Amino acid sequence: MRTTLSFAPLAEIATELLAVPAVDTQTEKGPNAKPAPKLLTADPAVTAAAAAVLASGEYKAGANETLLLHAPAGLAAKRLLIVGLGKQAKASVHSVRNAAGTAVRFAKPRGIRELTFALPENDSKSMPAAGVARAAIEGAFVGDFDPDTYRSDRKDQTVQSFTVVAPAGADHAAVESAFAEGVIIGESQNFTRSLVNEPGNKLTPTIMGQRAAAMAKEVGLACEVYSTEKLHELKMGAFWGVSQGSEEPPALIVLRYEPAGIKDGPVLGLVGKGITFDTGGISIKPGDNMEKMKYDMAGGAAMLGAMRAIALLKPKVRVIAIVCASENMPDGKAYKPGDVLTAMSGKTIDIINTDAEGRLVLADGLCYAKKLGATHLIDAATLTGAIGVALGKINAGVFSNDDATFEKFNAALATSGEKFWRMPLGDEYADLIKSDIADIKNTGGRYGGASTAAEFLKVFAEDTPWIHLDIAGLAWIDESKPYVASGPSGIAVRSILEWVRSY
Ligand code: BES
Ligand code: MN
Ligand code: ZN
Repeated sequence: MRTTLSFAPLAEIATELLAVPAVDTQTEKGPNAKPAPKLLTADPAVTAAAAAVLASGEYKAGANETLLLHAPAGLAAKRLLIVGLGKQAKASVHSVRNAAGTAVRFAKPRGIRELTFALPENDSKSMPAAGVARAAIEGAFVGDFDPDTYRSDRKDQTVQSFTVVAPAGADHAAVESAFAEGVIIGESQNFTRSLVNEPGNKLTPTIMGQRAAAMAKEVGLACEVYSTEKLHELKMGAFWGVSQGSEEPPALIVLRYEPAGIKDGPVLGLVGKGITFDTGGISIKPGDNMEKMKYDMAGGAAMLGAMRAIALLKPKVRVIAIVCASENMPDGKAYKPGDVLTAMSGKTIDIINTDAEGRLVLADGLCYAKKLGATHLIDAATLTGAIGVALGKINAGVFSNDDATFEKFNAALATSGEKFWRMPLGDEYADLIKSDIADIKNTGGRYGGASTAAEFLKVFAEDTPWIHLDIAGLAWIDESKPYVASGPSGIAVRSILEWVRSY
C-alpha cells in the first residue's frame, strides 16, 4: 500500500473516495434524543455536500458507522464516505485508527483501490494532529490485511494508495514524522499477522527462523538462528524437552538491535513463545479447534514485528529478542507427564502436563536473555486458555514482578491503544506449582491457571524486572469487525514497541 500525506484543501482532492470522520454530539439519552452527527471538518464544500443527509436523522455517527454519497456536489472526489467515531466525548486517536481501517475495509470489497482519509480537524488533547496521523496510517494497514493467502480464487483487493489529509493549521513537521512512524508500525504489525496466519506445515520452526533472518537482513538487525546443537550446548533442557518429540528441529532465534554510541544503560530482553503448532503433546488436546493451535507462535511473531519496527524507528536503547520456536508433538521420543526436565538455569521441572509447553520454552528463553545481558525482560505468549476465561476477548493479561516496569508498560498503552489488564502474582499462586520430586511443576491446576503459569515464568525471570504478556485470548480474532478482518490480530506489537521506546 502506497501512503501519501497531503495538506491540500479537502474539496480539491481528486480521489475515488474521500473519507471524512464524524462524531455523535448527542448527549441526551432516551427515545426523544435526536441523532446529532457532526463532521470533523470545517471545509465548506464537504459540509454542504453532507448537510442534507446529516440533517435527515438517518445517520448517527456511531463508532465505525458509514454513509456513502456518490458524486458529491462541489467536491473533486468521486465519492464521499462519512465514518463515525462514536460519541464526541469518547472519541480519541484510537477511534480514528479504527475509522481509517473501516474506510479501507469499506473500499476493498467494492474494488476501490485508492482512497483519501481526512484527519479530524479537532486539535484537542484527545485528538492531537500528529497522533491521529500516525493512528490513521496504522489503522489503514491493519484494515488492508486479509488472511485469504491460500485461496486459489483469491482476488487481490488490497488498497494500492492511501492518502491522509492533515487538518488546516497542523504542524507540518510533527504530522510528517508521525505519518512516517505510522507506516513503519502498521507494516510491522502486518508482518507479525502474516506469520501468525501461516499454517503449521508452512511455518515450521526452521522456516520461522528463515523468515526472521530475512526480515533482520532487510532492516539491518543482527540475527542468529540456532537449533538442536545449541540447545544442548546451552543446556536448555526445558526447551529441548518440548522439541524432542518433533521431527521438525527447534529454532532458537536471536535478534540484536545495538544503536551506535549506546554503550551503557538498560538492555531490554524480548522473549517470545514460538510454538508453530501445539498438539498438546502426549497430553494431547481434543480435536475441536485444534487447528487454531497454528497461532501458538503469536508471541514470538509479535517480538519479530516489534524488532522490525525498532530497527526502523531507531530508539536509543539496546534490545535483544529471543524467539523459542518449536512444535509440540506426541511421539515415541516425546517428553511425558512425570518426566523431570532440568532447565538452563539449573532448576528442575516436574512435568504434569505436556500441554503446558509454552512456559517451558520461555523458561530457557528468559534465562538466555539474561545471560546475553538483558537488564529488563518482557515476554509475550499465547500461554493459557485461562487468561481468555478470566478476561474474555477484550483485554489481554499483563503480569509483572516490578511496579515501576509495569507502569512504563501501562503508559505505553495510551499510545498503542491496545487493552491489557494487570493480573495478580503472589506466593499463594507460587505454592500451587510446588512439586514433591523437583523444584517446581509445570501446571498448577485449572483455577488461576494464568497466574500460576506466570508464577512459573517468574521463577526464571528471578530478580530481573520482568513483564509477561498472556495474549492467548486476543491473538486470534474470531469475528471480523468493520476495521479488521477475522484472523491474526498482531496484538502486542505496538505496545511492546512503545514500551521499548519509553527507555
Ligand atoms: N497454547 C496453549 C494455550 C492457548 C489456549 C492458546 C487457547 C490459545 C488459545 C497452551 O500451550 C496450553 O495448552 N495451555 C494449557 C495449560 C494447561 C495444560 C495447564 C491450557 O491453557 O489449557
Ligand atoms: Mn499447550
Ligand atoms: Zn501452547
